[in-house]
Amino acid sequence: MRLYYPLLFCLAAALSSAFVVSSPHMWTKLILTHHWPSTFCSMEHCHPNISYWTLHGLWPDKGIDCNSSWHFNSSEIEDLLPDMMKSWPDLLNPSSTGFWKYEWHKHGTCAAKAASLNSEHKYFSKALELYHKVDLDSILKKFDITPSEKYYTFSQVEGVIENFYGVTPKIQCVHPKNAEFQILGQIEICFNSDFTLLDCERHSTMETISKGDNSTAVNKASGFSVCDHDTPVYYPPLKKTHTNTN
Ligand SMILES: *[C@@H]1O[C@H](CO)[C@@H](O)[C@H](O)[C@H]1NC(C)=O
Ligand SMILES: *[C@@H]1O[C@H](CO)[C@@H](O)[C@H](O)[C@H]1NC(C)=O
Ligand SMILES: *[C@@H]1O[C@H](CO)[C@@H](O)[C@H](O)[C@H]1NC(C)=O
Ligand SMILES: *[C@@H]1O[C@H](CO)[C@@H](O)[C@H](O)[C@H]1NC(C)=O
Repeated sequence: MRLYYPLLFCLAAALSSAFVVSSPHMWTKLILTHHWPSTFCSMEHCHPNISYWTLHGLWPDKGIDCNSSWHFNSSEIEDLLPDMMKSWPDLLNPSSTGFWKYEWHKHGTCAAKAASLNSEHKYFSKALELYHKVDLDSILKKFDITPSEKYYTFSQVEGVIENFYGVTPKIQCVHPKNAEFQILGQIEICFNSDFTLLDCERHSTMETISKGDNSTAVNKASGFSVCDHDTPVYYPPLKKTHTNTN
């Protein structure tokens, strides 16, 4: 009997590679990432003129750069462009489509492994649809979390989101050196593959980096990491361009 094991093993391996190969590492979760333009621009040295949460991306939990031959073509999302420019602006270069191209190659081509997102149009329109459905900016305002020179506690910010959506977000901050506050920067809301809300993992940035996601490595390099629970949270208002109120 023993002799047959290697054969069975080979057969099983052949069968599994024949039948499982179509979706070996399918994603199971989508992360809708919002960023706060003033915080982003304070790190990237841009000049924000937007005072609402904008889209950073819609990221599947597995895969990076899944199909390099699937080129971004902005004509495919022509009808979405006005909303894209408002809701998903390239803060570094407002007239460019470079940010969308980058997000498509890095995350969209992986999201596209699911039939529900298997075209550029499906991917970007779903991201916009989820962004508007979540309507994070209005919800924060509605529950009195507004940009302010006074600080919030982390629980106030997280509490509003958890109570309203009924799921755990992942909230990231910038931690300036030697400061007694942290700056609110990025909020992630997570979804199942059927687009229903789901808890995000509040994993540390280290764990994310070790999984090889370069977006998080980049975020870490530019200063975003999970907010501390006990440090006051600064939610920076849009600075007036011509006056310095300090
Ligand atoms: C911000 O500035 C850019 C480029 O100057 C402009 O295209 C865009 O409409 C402005 N956005 C808002 C909300 O004023
Ligand atoms: C990659 O994208 C190209 C262009 O859309 C498509 O023809 C090809 O089937 C895709 N490859 C995979 C593995 O999905
Ligand atoms: C881009 O998309 C448009 C509209 O679908 C199509 O007509 C055009 O051929 C595409 N361009 C390229 C370079 O694939
Ligand atoms: C991440 O970026 C580094 C440096 O740019 C690169 O060498 C590495 O291959 C990238 N890793 C992944 C998983 O994309």
